[in-house]
Amino acid sequence: MKRIALAADHGGYALKEAVKQMLDDRAIPYLDFGTNSDESCDYPDYAELAARSVSEGNSERGIFCCGSAAGMVIVANKFPGVRAVACHNEWAARMSRLHNDANVLALGGRVVSLEEAERIVAIWLETEFEGGRHSRRLDKISDIEDAFQPTS
Ligand code: RB5
Repeated sequence: MKRIALAADHGGYALKEAVKQMLDDRAIPYLDFGTNSDESCDYPDYAELAARSVSEGNSERGIFCCGSAAGMVIVANKFPGVRAVACHNEWAARMSRLHNDANVLALGGRVVSLEEAERIVAIWLETEFEGGRHSRRLDKISDIEDAFQPTS
């Protein structure tokens, strides 16, 4: 895997640090866009940096952590080509890869335990996109994005 962009706010900081260990264990490179403490901060600041990295192709995928996962998903999905899904269990993580080719996994540090997160991340990293009819659906998402691109 090329590289994973990481982002967190204070609600997801501890989880992001645990995810880094999981990636180190698998020798998967990552770019950590912060935050770097559990001091209160604003999730859009970090989600924006990491989502841009995925959108521009500098990172293949992203794992974003906040308290609920919601804020990270909302910001990430503003970026063209980013398909971010909040996954609170292993089934959701598997389906997000199989059917949605999700390239950003959002985790809630106040929703899942570190043990649950470890299993969710493992499945999400290992599951490949199924393609087929699901590719057609992703193409339709791209068409929607294209309709909103600013014209120069
Ligand atoms: C921070 O308190 C919290 O709102 C944030 O981590 C996240 O859950 C937002 O969606």
